[in-house]
Amino acid sequence: MTPESSPASAVSTAASPHTSSSGSEWWRTAVIYQIYPRSFADADGNGIGDLRGITTRLPALADLGVDAVWLSPFFRSPQRDAGYDVSDYCDVDPLFGTLDDFDTMLATAHDLGLKVIVDMVPNHTSSDHVWFQQALAAPEGSPERDRYIFRDGKGKHGELPPNNWESVFGGGMWTRTTKADGTPGQWYLHIFDTSQPDLNWENPWVREQFRDILRFWLDRGVDGFRVDVAHGMIKQAGLPDYTPPEDGASMGGTGGVDRDEFTPLEPLIQDPVTPPDPPYWGQEGVHEIWREWHEVLAEYPGDRVLCAEAWVDPLEKVALWVRPDEMSQAFNFAYMFTDWKAPALKRVIQESLDAFGGVGAPATWVLSNHDVVRHASRLALTADSPQGAGIGPKSPGKPDAALGLRRARAASSIMLGLPGSAYVYQGEELGLPEDMELPDEARQDPTWFRTGGEKYGRDGCRVPIPWESDRPAFGFNDTGASWLPQPAHWAQYAYDAQAGVPGSTLELYKLALRLRHEHGLGSGELNWVKGYGKKVLAFRVSDVTVIANLGEVAVELPVADILLSSEPITGGVLPTDTTVWLHTP
Ligand code: GLC
Repeated sequence: MTPESSPASAVSTAASPHTSSSGSEWWRTAVIYQIYPRSFADADGNGIGDLRGITTRLPALADLGVDAVWLSPFFRSPQRDAGYDVSDYCDVDPLFGTLDDFDTMLATAHDLGLKVIVDMVPNHTSSDHVWFQQALAAPEGSPERDRYIFRDGKGKHGELPPNNWESVFGGGMWTRTTKADGTPGQWYLHIFDTSQPDLNWENPWVREQFRDILRFWLDRGVDGFRVDVAHGMIKQAGLPDYTPPEDGASMGGTGGVDRDEFTPLEPLIQDPVTPPDPPYWGQEGVHEIWREWHEVLAEYPGDRVLCAEAWVDPLEKVALWVRPDEMSQAFNFAYMFTDWKAPALKRVIQESLDAFGGVGAPATWVLSNHDVVRHASRLALTADSPQGAGIGPKSPGKPDAALGLRRARAASSIMLGLPGSAYVYQGEELGLPEDMELPDEARQDPTWFRTGGEKYGRDGCRVPIPWESDRPAFGFNDTGASWLPQPAHWAQYAYDAQAGVPGSTLELYKLALRLRHEHGLGSGELNWVKGYGKKVLAFRVSDVTVIANLGEVAVELPVADILLSSEPITGGVLPTDTTVWLHTP
């Protein structure tokens, strides 16, 4: 096996000379576990997870071997978008507990050696937020209105929305207000639900409020922020009409790229199939905000992290968000949505290393989160399932569960071998599939309602996770209540059914995380290994060689100690949809 020696195949973790960054911050190599608080652990038994529940289960995460947790929002919220509609950024919603519960959770995590990242939602507030209520009560053109994006309607009587933009959740992006006297008033913009009005980030007052909100949580000791819809905060001047391409992803980016069309490793300067950015995604003005936020974090000791949720294409553009004086990391959605094909994966991995490494940032890797079909199902779909559409009882092309799990284990074993930082979504370490049989009446995602049931939405990846196979709600709580019903067949995925069981998905993740740490994979350099053919992905990081067979034919393995394998290995060959880690000092 000869590693390719192209300089481009090495990832640099060195700091750029333009930054005070040490290049050794914890988040450069961290595995970050996403907790979706509604569905992780429920101490008060009301069917919705809470902070006390999280605290009791943190030792299991320390034992899993992750470095940090990221908590989806637990702030005060009417919960019309599961907490991504915040009505008070500096308090905990009673549904999840209290600020004291948060402090206890944070202290417990830190005692266990886990960093804690909270989810900041700056693109929009809840319509219940006092700022929006004040804006509605204030006259047109007032400073209160200028905190949001209010405009007069088009048409003779302002009866038409100010432009043709369509909400990510379906329907229009504008809602008309009603004046105190009952007559129709101005319209306000909401990229998402009507209950999530977009803030006006051109307004310095808004910027100042958020700097204070960041300080509120930094003062409590959080280790950083995941920044929601970071790509949407600045809109193109004049708010011009825009019609998205037919196959565009609803969140922007990653909609039109087929990495199979390109020869692996051929430099990709400008992606020919990437459509122009919509006037509400990825605008240049966001960078100024990140520089301001970077400075706020720099006021605090220790390495605090800013991670962007930025659905923009191509990766070179995402990398601009993580230049040394901006964010620390950005989710790699291009990697997440790459087909289960070796050339495509090779290409996106190399592009990621080049793009992020080119600005001195770590590459990141992610396969699942609370917005997408879980990868244990997604990787075996036989029909298209655009992001946000979800899968439900009537969806075509449903995956074969065994194939999905097999591919998910192989995919996770690739991801956890890559240099940089990786995100793990709660339940993927159990091999949980998407819940594809949720009954219509149980659904809660606004996407389902705003599209009149045309899109199932994201509930299928948000079902409370199973801890103990023979307890009520599989140990999610003591009462058996669950805000989304758990499928009966999930007993087999429960944490206690897998802990200590050789070959279980949980033990596979634990082993991968331990080895990743022991062999310094997060901070290593990646070198491609030649000689295995087009359908095999093979690379070396540190003294570990990762080989994944995505083809139909078994592949002969070199003689070496097997450190990890996503399926049993017999006879010295690597079966289809299987990944191994070999010790190759
Ligand atoms: C982000 C969140 C998603 C939410 C949306 C609106 O994309 O991840 O769950 O619905 O923002 O806040």
